Amino acid sequence: MKIFIDTADVAQIKEAWSWGIIDGVTTNPTHVSKTGRKPMEVYREICSIVNGPISLETVGLSASEILAEGRELAKVHKHAVIKVVNTMEGLKAVKQFTAEGIKTNVTVTFSPLQALLAAKVGAGYISPFVGRLDAIGHVGMDLVREIKTIYDNYGFKTEIIVAAVRHPLHVREAALCGAHICTMAFDVIKQLYSHPLTDIGIEMFLNDWKKVPK
Ligand code: E4P
Repeated sequence: MKIFIDTADVAQIKEAWSWGIIDGVTTNPTHVSKTGRKPMEVYREICSIVNGPISLETVGLSASEILAEGRELAKVHKHAVIKVVNTMEGLKAVKQFTAEGIKTNVTVTFSPLQALLAAKVGAGYISPFVGRLDAIGHVGMDLVREIKTIYDNYGFKTEIIVAAVRHPLHVREAALCGAHICTMAFDVIKQLYSHPLTDIGIEMFLNDWKKVPK
């Protein structure tokens, strides 16, 4: 399973990229607004750090606005993926982006039927938001499993990005159900490395090593 970092914070992206386990980046308008910087400046910097797909989100609501914005964003870098909201207008734009060879990530997805429609118009990626479903009493990972079944049933090539990930258990379940990608915050990635038994094991080895005659 590929791991994407879900942020527009360049310092975090640089550090996470140095760990060697990051395959791409997903940004969104909230992430960009937190940087206090101009979007294009941030996007160019991210593209100069990461050698992998980088999702840049459109904010227009009509297909024509999304297309105009997305075509500009696609010029930022060959790795740019145009993130489009999962609406009728959004999917009209995705169909056209697909015809133009521009890769898309269909975002804010909450139902398997929305995911089916996105695949039909050639979305490169689909982003189901699991954490936001959990927060309203639905099992977010059930949505991922249903999308996976539907895509497998019909041989759709759209890749599933498990998004709005809140903790390592989401990551574990994403990998177990065969999602292609999981995108998560810097802190969740760091949590994946930790295990208390690893820490205790290292401490024991180092203490025992002190007793070895040198
Ligand atoms: C994914 O691409 C989104 O950027 C992200 O996961 C949004 O979810 P959140 O704002 O609920 O964390």
